[in-house]
Amino acid sequence: MPFANLIVAWQKSHGRHHLPWQNTRNAYKVWLSEIMLQQTQVVTVIPYYERFLATFPTIHHLAAAAQDDVLALWAGLGYYARARNLHKCAQTVVAQWEGEFPRQAQDIMSLPGIGKSTAHAIAAFCFGAKTPIMDGNVKRIFTRYYGIEGQTNKREIENRLWKQAHENIEQADKNLDMPAYTQGQMDLGATVCTRSKPKCDACPLQSSCYAYRENRQAELPTPKIK
Ligand code: ADE
Ligand code: SF4
Repeated sequence: MPFANLIVAWQKSHGRHHLPWQNTRNAYKVWLSEIMLQQTQVVTVIPYYERFLATFPTIHHLAAAAQDDVLALWAGLGYYARARNLHKCAQTVVAQWEGEFPRQAQDIMSLPGIGKSTAHAIAAFCFGAKTPIMDGNVKRIFTRYYGIEGQTNKREIENRLWKQAHENIEQADKNLDMPAYTQGQMDLGATVCTRSKPKCDACPLQSSCYAYRENRQAELPTPKIK
């Protein structure tokens, strides 16, 4: 089975299905969750996410809010540039997109505070776009599975990882479930292909994994030089 389909099959039986931002295609809700989850763990994010949506149920509410009120709801999550960009992004979507999140990854990416991987995640979750993600979890899975050496923040390695990510979608079945594939990569990285002591015996990728075969899980991804 192709890589992406193995992950989708695993996601359906072993992935997470009840996180509050799942089971919606509302781009406002998905975007908010992705921004909160960039530097903060799931368990911490959940109550913040619920409070945020209770206060600002739509992007129009957020766009019209005072910045201090947005920052107050963010207090404790850290990385406050995220909150300022969030507010700016909401105002941009209201002013330039009539309050509807753009559907094209290229347009999503041009909004304040949204990088390529986050834009691709939103496009895949909400619109089923065949746009790959490349976050820390995916980098860890790919470097181990394919035996990709070198620091993943280096341009050359990044390019290789993105190329592989596109190939994996091309090689998958035509009707690949993009929300499940996207969530599955995040879930596999968070629960099975973990930084230390990955649970290779529970991994759907084990039979073709380079790191498992060569027992090099602890050496990949190549540590970043500080
Ligand atoms: N981290 C980033 N996006 C996530 C998501 N949708 N679910 C769980 N963890 C995530
Ligand atoms: Fe990661 Fe182990 Fe799965 Fe390879 S077999 S992708 S190292 S969990």
